[in-house]
Amino acid sequence: MSFSAEAYFASQPPPPTLQHDVEQVREFVKRQAKEGRNVVLVTSGGTTVPLELNVVRFLDNFSAGTRGATSAEYFLKAGYAVIFMHRQFSLQPFSRHYSHSTNPFLDFLEIEPPSSSSPDADPGISVTPNKRHDLLNVLTEYKRVHALGTLHTLTFVTVDDYLWLLRALSQELAVVGRRAMFYLAAAVSDFFLPRQKMSEHKIQSGKGNLSIEMDQVPKLLKPLAEDWTKGGYVISFKLETDDNLLLPKARQALERYGHQVVIGNDLHRRKFEVVFVSKKHLHGPPPNPRPATDGSDEFLEHWLRINVAHTNQTPGFPLKEIEEDIVAELVRRHTEWIARTP
Ligand code: PMT
Repeated sequence: MSFSAEAYFASQPPPPTLQHDVEQVREFVKRQAKEGRNVVLVTSGGTTVPLELNVVRFLDNFSAGTRGATSAEYFLKAGYAVIFMHRQFSLQPFSRHYSHSTNPFLDFLEIEPPSSSSPDADPGISVTPNKRHDLLNVLTEYKRVHALGTLHTLTFVTVDDYLWLLRALSQELAVVGRRAMFYLAAAVSDFFLPRQKMSEHKIQSGKGNLSIEMDQVPKLLKPLAEDWTKGGYVISFKLETDDNLLLPKARQALERYGHQVVIGNDLHRRKFEVVFVSKKHLHGPPPNPRPATDGSDEFLEHWLRINVAHTNQTPGFPLKEIEEDIVAELVRRHTEWIARTP
């Protein structure tokens, strides 16, 4: 079965923390609007689909949260206020540089023995000299953002959490109108189990094979772009593993949902190559415009590529991150969008 957005919200219960989360976001947006900042909602990480009410098993969507967390940092640098809505325990801005698996922070701390003048004092802690420079840069930016209060973070786990939050936050962002941007990098499940069909307890294995029929998750991009945002600039991502599908699927998403940009990425090349697909009539020309490869006059494609060698440097500190260019291009387009009053 396929749910419409209305049918979904009428039949599935909201997460218990929704009201609290929304009130905090309302305060945040109000303050940023008063201080004259553009606000971007960044969604990041994958959603889960629980199979039981007392959940033991769930389906998950692939995403470490790198794209979202990295982009959030560049948006903050560009002066945006960022609402970072991410999968619990996925990567976050700033702390992502010291992820427990690729760059564990304990590895670059040193223990300093107490001085001979106070041998009973606790040993000191210092940063390994060759890690100091990178840490100082991250820490300085982290403290700057903290002092300005331009980053607000909130979490989701299930696809239900995600859908309820996305609707509520986009409605909150309506107060900043065209100054709102939506950067939907989260990997959202296409299928889910409605409450009414879920087993209450752990599904037992004694009965042989397991068959579960899932329902289709409603796509929220259309109501978001058409009704909820009041002129916000909406970017969605399209992840494919088959190259031949990337552009057709990106164009299809633009046709279906009527938002501003789809950023297409191939699973294996996503760290050094992406394509911006947009409709010609919505934009002035990108810096290196190319006619769409489908031969039509309707779409624009704009490829961003970085040198692969630049991505394989110190864990957490590649020489260049493609998100820097993605965000720069989006800020440019969003600025034009704001200036072009409808
Ligand atoms: O985090 P990383 O490991 O760095 O990986 C980043 C990424 C590859 C996950 C990211 O760049 C990406 O491509 N994200 C979108 C992946 C995807 O599968 O999208 P989708 O086809 O499920 O959805 C398309 C868009 O619609 C997404 O922007 C999604 O947020 C949005 N959506 C999806 C379902 C839904 N019900 N409502 C939505 O709004």
